[in-house]
Amino acid sequence: MKPTLIFLALAGMAGLSVAAETAQPHAAGIESKGYLWNKPNKTLTRALKQKADPEKGKIAYEECRGCHKADASGRPDAGYPQLAGQHTEVLIKQMLDTRSGRRDNPRMHPFIEADAIPTKSIPDVAAYLHGLPVPDTNLKGAGKNLEHGKALYDKDCGNCHGAAGEGNGKEFHPKVASQHYPYLYRESMDVRDGIRRNADTKMVKILKSYSDEDIAAVSDYMSRLPPVQ
Ligand code: HEC
Ligand code: HEC
Repeated sequence: MKPTLIFLALAGMAGLSVAAETAQPHAAGIESKGYLWNKPNKTLTRALKQKADPEKGKIAYEECRGCHKADASGRPDAGYPQLAGQHTEVLIKQMLDTRSGRRDNPRMHPFIEADAIPTKSIPDVAAYLHGLPVPDTNLKGAGKNLEHGKALYDKDCGNCHGAAGEGNGKEFHPKVASQHYPYLYRESMDVRDGIRRNADTKMVKILKSYSDEDIAAVSDYMSRLPPVQ
């Protein structure tokens, strides 16, 4: 390739990435050397310590209902997760990771940037969502391979996500019981394939050995674990 063409190609690539960054910022994630998925930072530490007010959170959540629904049960068809009953620590970390661009979510980003929701409202929303009853109406998988799904879950996932899928707030391990099947499936695929860039490297290592069918089976099993309040 002629030097001018190389220059143009590079400029084009740079132009593209600038356009992408304007839409949603890009923070270093799993693809970066020395990445630590749960590295503390000032904003996260402050948000976790803040005394939260669920009543204020209820008002702030009005902006989110269009996608996640008023009862925070999500929309399985569109891939919007159920948020009701999720651990406050998990909710706060995921919101801040989405805002910083460590977890890519261009659809939600405009609603979670600092202009749209003040940082101090984030713990309030998390406290409100955590207190909502966990619905049992979530979309389950096809139910075809549940024994295999259970065996995988008990061997590889339960130590972090809990035997009953209850998760662990202090460790930022999400509750997975009665989450929508399509969301669990897509997230597990994205974790395996390096697309969910804020994931725990230990989990990524495990999921790398999973086939699409294994991921479908384990996601189906998780979606059928009864709600844990
Ligand atoms: C335009 C639709 C949309 C809006 C509005 C929206 N979200 Fe989301 N949200 C999503 C999608 C899509 C995902 C899943 C992203 C993925 O697949 O990684 C998500 C994921 C999340 C998660 C991560 C859940 C988990 O289990 O990891 C949290 C927390 C969240 N949203 C909170 C909020 C809050 C709070 C608001 C309002 C301030 C909001 N969202 C507004 C679409 C939206
Ligand atoms: C070493 C602990 C650990 C193990 C083992 C583990 N996970 Fe995770 N998982 C996590 C953490 C931590 C997160 C949240 C990461 C983040 O902050 O983005 C997560 C997130 C997820 C999510 C997204 C949930 C949501 O609400 O967005 C899914 C789905 C998931 N894990 C599935 C699995 C499956 C399936 C297995 C077993 C094959 C597994 N995990 C094993 C720690 C673990």
